[in-house]
Amino acid sequence: MQTILAKTAGFCFGVDRAVSLVEQAVHEGRRVATLGPIIHNRHVINRFAESGVREIARLDEAGPGDTVVIRSHGVTRAVYEQLQQTGCEIVDATCPFVKKIHHIISACTGTGQRPIIIGTRSHPEVQAIAGWCTEPVVFETPQELENWLLEAPERANLPLRMVCQTTSTQNLWKSCCEIAKKVCTNCEIFDTICKATEMRQEEAGLLSQRCDAMVVVGDARSSNTGRLAMICRQYCETVSLVDHADELDMSLFSGAKTVGITANNKMSEELKVETAQEENFAELLEQSLKTLNNGDKVTGTVMAVGTTEIEVDLGTKHTAYIPVEDFTADPSVKVEDVVKVGDEIEAVVVHVNDGEGVVRLSKKRLEAGKAWEEVEAAVESKQVVEGVVTEENKGGIVVNVKGIRVFVPASQSGVPKGGDLAELVKKPVQLRITEVNRARRRVVGSIRSVAAEQRKAAQEKIWSEIEVGKQYHGTVKSLTSYGAFVDIGGVDGMVHVSELSWNRVKNPAEVVKVGDEIDVFVIALDPEKKKISLGYKTEETNPWTIFNKQFQVGDVAKVKIVKLMTFGAFAEIIPGVDGLIHISQIADRRIGKPEDVLSEGQEVDAKIIDIDQEHKRISLSIRALLTGAADEAAEEEAE
Ligand code: F3S
Repeated sequence: MQTILAKTAGFCFGVDRAVSLVEQAVHEGRRVATLGPIIHNRHVINRFAESGVREIARLDEAGPGDTVVIRSHGVTRAVYEQLQQTGCEIVDATCPFVKKIHHIISACTGTGQRPIIIGTRSHPEVQAIAGWCTEPVVFETPQELENWLLEAPERANLPLRMVCQTTSTQNLWKSCCEIAKKVCTNCEIFDTICKATEMRQEEAGLLSQRCDAMVVVGDARSSNTGRLAMICRQYCETVSLVDHADELDMSLFSGAKTVGITANNKMSEELKVETAQEENFAELLEQSLKTLNNGDKVTGTVMAVGTTEIEVDLGTKHTAYIPVEDFTADPSVKVEDVVKVGDEIEAVVVHVNDGEGVVRLSKKRLEAGKAWEEVEAAVESKQVVEGVVTEENKGGIVVNVKGIRVFVPASQSGVPKGGDLAELVKKPVQLRITEVNRARRRVVGSIRSVAAEQRKAAQEKIWSEIEVGKQYHGTVKSLTSYGAFVDIGGVDGMVHVSELSWNRVKNPAEVVKVGDEIDVFVIALDPEKKKISLGYKTEETNPWTIFNKQFQVGDVAKVKIVKLMTFGAFAEIIPGVDGLIHISQIADRRIGKPEDVLSEGQEVDAKIIDIDQEHKRISLSIRALLTGAADEAAEEEAE
């Protein structure tokens, strides 16, 4: 007996995808529930049940913490919205072909077009489609459609939009289209039959004409499986519909020379038999359908943005999608933030499955291709490119430039020898590409050459503009015992320690530290020797200026005794400004020495009795206050 296995046998793309999404959710440890059976295959369902996957019939059976998978048949808009309100996580495994019908049919809203659906009323896919539009009319047969159109003559002139269930047969659909074209004046027709189904049915029909017996593998409850068996029975007397190898009644095939096998699901190993590798109509069909090739650059319109993929309309019969992971190489990009329904999108074709009419696209690959071209061009043009340092490794750092890994050797990183390369990680940098080998995916760059150039340009700019008195905002680069070197934008100037502060400073580190950003001004410059002297202390911070703003002769200040001498005591009025209290001004009586009354560190009130601006000297008196107080007391007594 020769057995021939249909090439199109197996799970279709949509069901395979739904099963994979459930498997993925289980693998991620989520609490998974499917809204209805995910597939008409009891083996798969049992396996999922053993993994803890629940099958729910009502929305109130799910809640926060659950991951609810919508099966490939899809659900109505109302169910989708109710699901969102339950607070559960939604994994939408609606087949992209079905989703496409939802888009087509929901576009009727507000246009006056009446939605017509050709399909089985009780089928969940049809019921879901009907839930994405208002006032849809469903017809199961061409006669029903014809009767409806003819029973009210005005209907023939209505604006109509007609789609069909993905698993409809070509014959039924063709008949409906002929009626619509004959009777209607304004009917938009969308052939939404799924290629996977169509091809499987056609192949089953052809195979059953060549074989003495046919085996149809699948769940008898599935309408797809039922249709397959029905098609086979049109041409072949012996058709056995089984769900598993152990259901086969081999006596049915006694005397059969050729047995064909088709399947609406993945077949068990026992049913996978050697098949005659004859030329197949599927290949021919495939050839005739193929309009897209791997590597083609395409432009389409975004039809839907899901959590796992972006559906794209390429204007062909194909259903095209970009898996989210193929959208961009930039991990910080959230797809839903940058792409929306209706956007035009460019991508490259990664895989064409003409059998099922599915095209997998990648925007990431398209961008990568462009990025490689740009990087290659940048070597020639020596153009500066930008990127972000992603990691430090043994010999240097890696910079992400438009999704391409560019290696920058430590010597080209711009970090001094022995410096910490890790400090560059996550920082944006500018670099020049020095070497590209696309075949080996090796790109080398240099940050140093850009930094050196930028520094040179900055230096030239500074030297062309610099003048005495000009102010700069700079960064302290290094300290020595005699001053601080400050980078004023590509050029270093030196602030001598005496110019750092009005106070007496022994070491510059008492005033500034490396990395500080400070305002400085030019005191002197020598373009020949490329030397710049900078000042940090200013007139506003001059303690004498501050003193003059705050005090005048006659004022009383709280002062601190800082030094006792034989002739008097020095007292600090404000930081950096001291005054002298002559020994005769310490008390209202004669004293032998200042320490008889005062001690260092003591705080006292003193009156400013003289300010010598020229010599910056201040005379203070405690006695003046005491005398004043005594005089006041005497005056009070006299009154
Ligand atoms: Fe399958 Fe989707 Fe077609 S579920 S049969 S690929 S419409």
